[in-house]
Amino acid sequence: MKKIIIGNFKMNTVPSEFKTYAMTLATKVRGTKNEVVVCPPFTHLSFAKEFLGGSSVAYGAQNISAEENGAFTGEISAKMIKDLGATYVIIGHSDRRGMYKESDKTINKKIKTALANGLKVVLCVGESLQIRESKQAQNFVRKQIDDDLKGIYENELESVVIAYEPIWAIGTGKNATDKDISKMSEVIRKEIETQFSAKAAQNITIVYGGSVGIKNYKKILSNPSIDGVLIGSACLDVDDFSLMARETY
Ligand code: PGA
Repeated sequence: MKKIIIGNFKMNTVPSEFKTYAMTLATKVRGTKNEVVVCPPFTHLSFAKEFLGGSSVAYGAQNISAEENGAFTGEISAKMIKDLGATYVIIGHSDRRGMYKESDKTINKKIKTALANGLKVVLCVGESLQIRESKQAQNFVRKQIDDDLKGIYENELESVVIAYEPIWAIGTGKNATDKDISKMSEVIRKEIETQFSAKAAQNITIVYGGSVGIKNYKKILSNPSIDGVLIGSACLDVDDFSLMARETY
């Protein structure tokens, strides 16, 4: 089965290192049936264009401005990354929701801007440990989905990947159990059905993220309720990432 394997570099590596990474990755994953996507920092995207353009590896950014253009010092627009050949953008990562106080309203606007510019969106959702312990995880994720996808047309969901990333599993070495993952993807699909349609729920792409790495990727990817994974720190090693991306599931 074809899976989508997405790498999120976060704020790691410098552009010159990415050059070698991109060349190696393109060579190593040649011929894989999976969809392989890397999201390095903005500064690496011109190298991505040079070394991944024309390969089977897609690339994207980890954020964009909600605005199209104008006096927004320090911001990067959807058009700018698109011009460098990016096809994906991660929106609503918990790092941004938490540290930069990105609200669901802003995330919703960013998603609309990304889709209007022909980008595919990886929308991250997921609860904190406190929310999980108070048994509110499902309600919390449902509300994120509703607020973040408000006003999106059903046909645009083709360009949306939902990444379920429980915050307590990110960078901690902890994983959600198979049961947690299956349950939450069912909740997400149900919510998509309520907000859109049964067909949309069936077709939506859902990936899991949070401490996915070389030791556990096979088990996580064998869960039929998800279509792939979002990998943070373990994507920085090109050999490991290629191995995970090449696997047949
Ligand atoms: P991690 O990060 O794989 O390092 O836990 C995942 C993410 O934040 O996207």
